[in-house]
Amino acid sequence: MSLPTAYHQMLSTLSEEAELRMELVEKPFPTPKAHEVVIRVEATPINPSDQGVMFGWSNMSSASSNGSGADTVLKAPVTPQGMAIMKARIGQNLPVGNEGAGTVIAAGDSPEAQALMGKTVAALSGAMYAEYCTVPAMSCLPLLPEHSAKDGASCFVNPLTALSMVETMKLEGHSALVHTAAASNLGQMLNKICQADGVDLVNIVRREEQVKILKDLGAKYIVNSSSETYMTDLTDAIHATGATLAFDATGGGQLASQILTAMEGAAARTPGAYSIYGSIHHKQVYLYGGLDVSPTTLTRGYGMAWGVGGWLLPNFLAKIGMEAGNKLRMRVAKELKTTFASHYTDEISLTEALDADIVARYFAKTTGEKFLICPQKDI
Ligand SMILES: NC(=O)c1ccc[n+]([C@@H]2O[C@H](COP(=O)([O-])OP(=O)(O)OC[C@H]3O[C@@H](n4cnc5c(N)ncnc54)[C@H](OP(=O)(O)O)[C@@H]3O)[C@@H](O)[C@H]2O)c1
Repeated sequence: MSLPTAYHQMLSTLSEEAELRMELVEKPFPTPKAHEVVIRVEATPINPSDQGVMFGWSNMSSASSNGSGADTVLKAPVTPQGMAIMKARIGQNLPVGNEGAGTVIAAGDSPEAQALMGKTVAALSGAMYAEYCTVPAMSCLPLLPEHSAKDGASCFVNPLTALSMVETMKLEGHSALVHTAAASNLGQMLNKICQADGVDLVNIVRREEQVKILKDLGAKYIVNSSSETYMTDLTDAIHATGATLAFDATGGGQLASQILTAMEGAAARTPGAYSIYGSIHHKQVYLYGGLDVSPTTLTRGYGMAWGVGGWLLPNFLAKIGMEAGNKLRMRVAKELKTTFASHYTDEISLTEALDADIVARYFAKTTGEKFLICPQKDI
């Protein structure tokens, strides 16, 4: 098979002049080092975490695109506040696309790299929004023969995060979980994991349609934050499950504080769980996403045994080490078409991913709308 001489890669750049620019650049086809492989990228999802790198704190409601084909350019203005937050990336051409899957078409000399030649693999790279991508052989997950690149495109970010939430719960001595924006792609995976593993999960959503999605999946505890009885419902569910650990995908507003308030209220109903300093057991909320960009507001009325902090998948995987991480990866590979199946509403090319009208659709991060970039589609 003859290899191409050049390929297109998507880059995101923030200029000193407060403008975000996204475009495709042409690069020479890479020569892999001994331990590396080159993947022909066939499917790569657009997750909220990718959009953090793509757009950051730009004003996407004023984004526009021009040009056509490989010359399409997306631009968006950035406010002074956004510039202050993104200062460290000014002038850098950032590759995008955390995860994806495709076929290994070139490999370095090492036996591990050579063993992957011709295989369909999934990989985590940070530069997957491209026609080709070079990664270390050991970071590839070979897919089972019955799985296609589309099946394996979302193998890492959401599946490993959902599994790691349950691992965090066990490591930190909690026995049940609370999750927000719970009808998300990740939230649906978490429901399947918790049901299979016998872990109680309190799902917080904001719409009745999302209650139905989770009910249909068999979820037992679902609380709608738009309901008049929200805080009572949340406290009841936390009391029933004993959850003292929450993962909040919104990150902003009052949600984290409301969860801690409900945990405190639940503890107050439990004999022996309360002291004059508030409830005894440590209550923790991890902000693991930024769907709500407003400031995080804490209205402290929950004693002193609590914490609110950030949580990031790569840091957690580094903490548990290679062996434990591999066990999680093996489970993902085995349950790819069931627990960890992702459904895509749109399959788009690299160029379409820069079209302002299409960007507006996937930027909304609406429940059930997931976009898949297929970089081999015509540019
Ligand atoms: N920290 C990490 O390592 C890590 C790793 C993986 C994923 N994540 C995070 O996981 C989250 C879920 O990812 P995903 O791919 O599963 O998302 P997704 O499928 O795109 O779903 C997003 C969900 O969030 C809801 N939502 C959006 N804005 C909201 C808001 N302000 N308040 C409440 N709900 C809101 C949407 O509901 P509506 O339809 O009502 O808008 C939708 O159900 C993201 O925040 C992502 O950044 C973090």
